[in-house]
Amino acid sequence: MKNKELSQMFKPWTARIAAGVVFGVLVIGLVVLYYSLQNRTSPTSSPQVMSDQLSFPFQTKEDSVLHIWLRATASEAAKVSIPSPSSSNPTRSIQTNETGEFEFHEVRLGAEQGLTALTWSTLTTNVSYAYVYEPSKVLDEGIRIIYITPAARNSHYGDSYHFRPPLGWMNDPNGFSKLNDNYHLFYQHYPHTLKWHAMHWGHAVSKDLVNWVHMPIFLRPDIIVTQKHKGNGGIFSGSAIPLPNNQGLRLFYTDDISDKEPKKEYQRSVITLDGIMPAGESEVILPNPPTPDQVANLTGDFRDPNAFMGPDGKWKMILGSYNGKGGVLLLYSTDDPTGATGWAFVNVIWEDDRLA
Ligand SMILES: *[C@@H]1O[C@H](CO)[C@@H](O)[C@H](O)[C@H]1NC(C)=O
Ligand SMILES: *[C@@H]1O[C@H](CO)[C@@H](O)[C@H](O)[C@H]1NC(C)=O
Ligand SMILES: *[C@@H]1O[C@H](CO)[C@@H](O)[C@H](O)[C@H]1NC(C)=O
Repeated sequence: MKNKELSQMFKPWTARIAAGVVFGVLVIGLVVLYYSLQNRTSPTSSPQVMSDQLSFPFQTKEDSVLHIWLRATASEAAKVSIPSPSSSNPTRSIQTNETGEFEFHEVRLGAEQGLTALTWSTLTTNVSYAYVYEPSKVLDEGIRIIYITPAARNSHYGDSYHFRPPLGWMNDPNGFSKLNDNYHLFYQHYPHTLKWHAMHWGHAVSKDLVNWVHMPIFLRPDIIVTQKHKGNGGIFSGSAIPLPNNQGLRLFYTDDISDKEPKKEYQRSVITLDGIMPAGESEVILPNPPTPDQVANLTGDFRDPNAFMGPDGKWKMILGSYNGKGGVLLLYSTDDPTGATGWAFVNVIWEDDRLA
């Protein structure tokens, strides 16, 4: 807009109308404020009988698996009931006395099919996240979310090309890979609030890299992370390689728990055969960073394994560390075609001094 046009806009009569509007808005605002304060100071003026029971219906199918995170709000145990769909069997219940971190429970509901519900009392029970899935269909259809606590709900931005988790916090993408028809995306995740906390690995799959379906949470941190370390640690970043003959994926990640032996940060690996959940327990593949003889002055930082096929046909891994001056990239290698064992330090491939 040009200066001349601007000066015409601010003729005295325009200013007077503007002042009138501002005054009007102020008066309305004061009236609204007065009435809302009145209501606050006299809560008995609008009595409400609230039920403390919440109930969220869902369908169970042939092989349904329920994942739910809950904790107790008071001295009484938390309890979530799942009535039998046919009423012929007793109601199932999930209980915990845990009042700190939300506690994970897996329930196989497959035996009975039909409409059921998750039911709990808000007086005793705080549920954060609940979903159900069928292993036979989840790679195509994703999980069916039953409940997300308000504290972890994402705001609605409408459709976009940006991948977002169904709830909670997300940071680094991890283990981007392909198994059979599906691309797999794992990511650093905390489901129970919108802030960084005890890291999990979230998981989603896609056939076209545009449309993604949400999968069950893939890795959960050790309870020590929340009980002893205020949520500072967990399943940190990593990567994925295919198992021989495309039989599954091998995932690598950093386990970050300060007072757990062997070390503050060390590398673990776990496989998945179905591309849905881990097959068995994860194992430590690199308990220690290089010795001071191998690389001088490294701190406890030793993380984010990125595995890839080397030009010699053997699996390699790059890890990030720090020597007081800047980042240090460590190269590892193994002769094991499955990547499960034999990881050995090769050399430093890059040292940075920008933090000196
Ligand atoms: C909760 O604590 C009470 C009292 O110690 C105990 O009887 C009960 O079994 C506990 N419940 C669960 C689910 O751990
Ligand atoms: C349940 O947990 C959420 C955090 O996820 C919290 O905001 C809420 O106040 C809790 N409710 C009760 C009844 O403790
Ligand atoms: C290690 O740290 C010492 C003391 O700061 C320094 O003198 C030495 O040059 C460092 N070595 C390397 C390889 O950075």
